[in-house]
Amino acid sequence: MDKLIVRGGNKLAGTIPISGAKNAALTLIPCALLTEEPLTLRNLPRLADIDGFQHLMGQFGVSISIQGNRPEDFGRVVTYEASRLTSSVAPYDLVRKMRASILVLGPMLARAGEATVSMPGGCAIGNRPIDLHLKALEAFGAEIELAQGYVKAIAPDGGLPGGEFDFPVVSVGATENALMAAVLANGTSRLFNAAREPEIVDLCNLLTAMGAEIEGIGSSDLTIHGVKRLNGATYKVMPDRIEAGSYACAAAITGGEVRLEGARADEMGATLHALEVMGVTVESDAKSVTVRADRPLKATDLTTAPYPGLATDMQAQLMSLLCKAEGTSVLKETIFENRFMHVPELSRMGCDIATEGRTAIVKGPQDLTGAEVMATDLRASMSLVIAGLAAEGETTVRRLYHLDRGYERLEEKLQLVGADIERLGD
Ligand code: EPZ
Repeated sequence: MDKLIVRGGNKLAGTIPISGAKNAALTLIPCALLTEEPLTLRNLPRLADIDGFQHLMGQFGVSISIQGNRPEDFGRVVTYEASRLTSSVAPYDLVRKMRASILVLGPMLARAGEATVSMPGGCAIGNRPIDLHLKALEAFGAEIELAQGYVKAIAPDGGLPGGEFDFPVVSVGATENALMAAVLANGTSRLFNAAREPEIVDLCNLLTAMGAEIEGIGSSDLTIHGVKRLNGATYKVMPDRIEAGSYACAAAITGGEVRLEGARADEMGATLHALEVMGVTVESDAKSVTVRADRPLKATDLTTAPYPGLATDMQAQLMSLLCKAEGTSVLKETIFENRFMHVPELSRMGCDIATEGRTAIVKGPQDLTGAEVMATDLRASMSLVIAGLAAEGETTVRRLYHLDRGYERLEEKLQLVGADIERLGD
């Protein structure tokens, strides 16, 4: 098992190329099921989750060809062709490894008239049910059966009629599944209180490029006029706003200055605002965001919320930063019930963090010391690397498979800006 060795103390300086967004790619790839024509995606990040999803698509008989990926390039160009599907079943042994596999349910149902997907297990940040996915598909006319740990969705003969669904809770994945089911429905569908994350906008932009008719893109009220068929397309995946925010925190905790090439400031508003409140200087242009931390960091209170609120996927990384800020910060996690797995590990590095339910109280500034730490989930792992960059001595981060799910060639990117970090095989 690989491990990362991080030696703290270097100010990060230079440019980091930002990769395509994992959480956009995971909803764009299954769109290939919606057409018999080839779908080519550019700027796909090289990540374990993307490889896993591609393996699942192969399970359905989708042909996959990877082009133009020189080892030194970040990102890949991949063409998916679902001209002929050989299965509409997503098996347990694949789905259990990656919860996002549930995102084949809507498109497969729309394409094949039925879909059978193993129920995803919970994961380290909560039990993460899929009830809203199923309720939305039922509202569009699907019949849902649960048996032997599988969900089976069946469309009436002739396809989904379409319908309306008002989300009681904002759900990114359920909004994505509903959108991918509605685009080929026989009628018009409407979603209320839909997620507005930039990854949803990316999905709507791809579906529109394929010939879908969607109104209200970017808002929480979406209207989808079903069409008979969709065409193939070539589409560039949006940049990863969470990766960019993570490296912004890494730059800030070291008192450095880093340009995040490809990052879009307008998609990172809440994160960049939090950094500015903490005293970090943020500048941006059409092609990048630059962060500079040239004065002591100040404590601030943060609460996660659905977009355009502060991304829950940024909570752990910002918590590491707050450990170095002067004063007491209150962090509230409103999206997941158990997303403080990084706290015990950060505490072993000298952070002063007390948690009570979904609230964490962070006292700073603390002197951090390197330690042997264990990654527990994707973003928690990144918070440990960020803390290690500012810690005295050496931090060893194990269970890197968590990190490799969401950060493309992390150590190479941090080495580009002067971090003392290396990956060792055990
Ligand atoms: C997506 O997960 C992201 N994953 C997550 O990123 C992200 O944290 C999350 O959205 C919130 O922004 C991908 O896009 C692949 P939700 P998703 O449905 O769709 C509850 C990362 O680090 N809920 O918006 O699973 C749920 O339990 C990952 O990259 C239901 O109750 O999140 C949670 O409390 C982690 N019933 C809340 O809604 C449902 O049917 C938000 O979940 C679905 C969700």
